[in-house]
Amino acid sequence: MKFKQKFNIDYEYEVIFTHNLFCEDNSTLTDLLGENESKAIFFIDEGVDKVFPSLKKDIIRWSEKNPGVLDLKLPVQIIEGGEKIKNNFQVIENICNAMTEAAICRHSYCFIIGGGAVLDAVGFAAAIFHRGVNQIRIPTTVLSQDDSGVGVKNAINHNGVKNLFGTFYPPYAVLNDSLFLTALSKREILSGVAEAIKVSIIKDQDFFYYIKNNAEAISNCDMMILETIISKSAKLHMDHICNGGDPFEKGSSRPLDFGHWSAHKLESMTNHEVKHGEAVAMGLALDAFAAVKLNLISESTCEDIITTLVDCGFELWHPDLEKRDSKGQLMIIKGLREFQEHLGGELTLAMPTKIGTIKDIHEMPTIVVEEALDQLKAVAAK
Ligand SMILES: NC(=O)c1ccc[n+]([C@@H]2O[C@H](COP(=O)([O-])OP(=O)(O)OC[C@H]3O[C@@H](n4cnc5c(N)ncnc54)[C@H](O)[C@@H]3O)[C@@H](O)[C@H]2O)c1
Ligand SMILES: [Zn+2]
Repeated sequence: MKFKQKFNIDYEYEVIFTHNLFCEDNSTLTDLLGENESKAIFFIDEGVDKVFPSLKKDIIRWSEKNPGVLDLKLPVQIIEGGEKIKNNFQVIENICNAMTEAAICRHSYCFIIGGGAVLDAVGFAAAIFHRGVNQIRIPTTVLSQDDSGVGVKNAINHNGVKNLFGTFYPPYAVLNDSLFLTALSKREILSGVAEAIKVSIIKDQDFFYYIKNNAEAISNCDMMILETIISKSAKLHMDHICNGGDPFEKGSSRPLDFGHWSAHKLESMTNHEVKHGEAVAMGLALDAFAAVKLNLISESTCEDIITTLVDCGFELWHPDLEKRDSKGQLMIIKGLREFQEHLGGELTLAMPTKIGTIKDIHEMPTIVVEEALDQLKAVAAK
């Protein structure tokens, strides 16, 4: 006997752009949630709390001025920011304990205000608590507003393996508040721009040349240009998840991870001293040089990619890129196997064929990586 079970579930969520969400007269949240009071718990990245110390009070004041929307169950919870939070499973238990204490249920809202690491960790807890409670993400870095925060994934690291435990769990909504960006360092801002450059190379030629033509403004952290880049990048990431045919990544191909096989490896080799976006910028440049060697793109396309990255202000070299193991093998190459293991199946790397289009390849010869690294080092030394 055999029964077949098949059903589809529709997911829908909004990514809303606003400024100063918790200003008393900002109606974004009332418009989103209506006046059907629900229990809510807030988690805030300690890095955000440090630069916006009045945020806790602003949330309470907003709630008092807009009665009947949020029933705040506990004081706002401040949690560790940055990658460290993803390395400690105990944090997940602590977050779940706070939600238990606040009697959070599936009709409640779990607000997460922070960078990509905090969104990933609290998002994971929210996904497993009661098998999933509504999470409202409020990303506070460029990277989390233009890439990680608008997607459907969360994860924590385990045993030194990045993103080993995690779920696919779409948010209830994402609220991108540009006020938070004003406190970011140039380093943090650029880190997020790398993901916008990545998605422009694989998806949108006009967007890529918009970034290229505004590279100087980007390197000066021009907020108007950055806001345009963030919204365009967020939309391209969302469109890929929605229309790419594989929202929960069942296949072996992951175009949004162009340039990431070496980036993830470099991040872990440097113990996250190199930030994700910084490593992605180097990974994009490395794969651009490799793509020329593999006859996928022209020299001039590669030059456009490298010039854009350099003009935006990215460092394209780190000494660990040429680190070798005791057998003399380049350690960064191990990133290829780890990338394949994470996705499962055959090694599949998305590579550009020109700006805006990509092709999957299944082999990356060591000699190509060696030569591309030499070129990268030479460019960075100029
Ligand atoms: N889930 C996904 O699909 C996905 C995709 C890409 C990246 N990620 C993950 O995102 C993480 C990186 O996120 P990130 O680049 O946002 O960095 P981050 O979360 O590590 O934050 C960087 C630092 O900035 C601080 N910070 C956050 N907002 C701030 C603000 N407005 N002003 C001042 N300081 C602030 C944080 O406290 C932290 O110290 C990585 O763990 C990466 O794996 C997830
Ligand atoms: Zn990335």
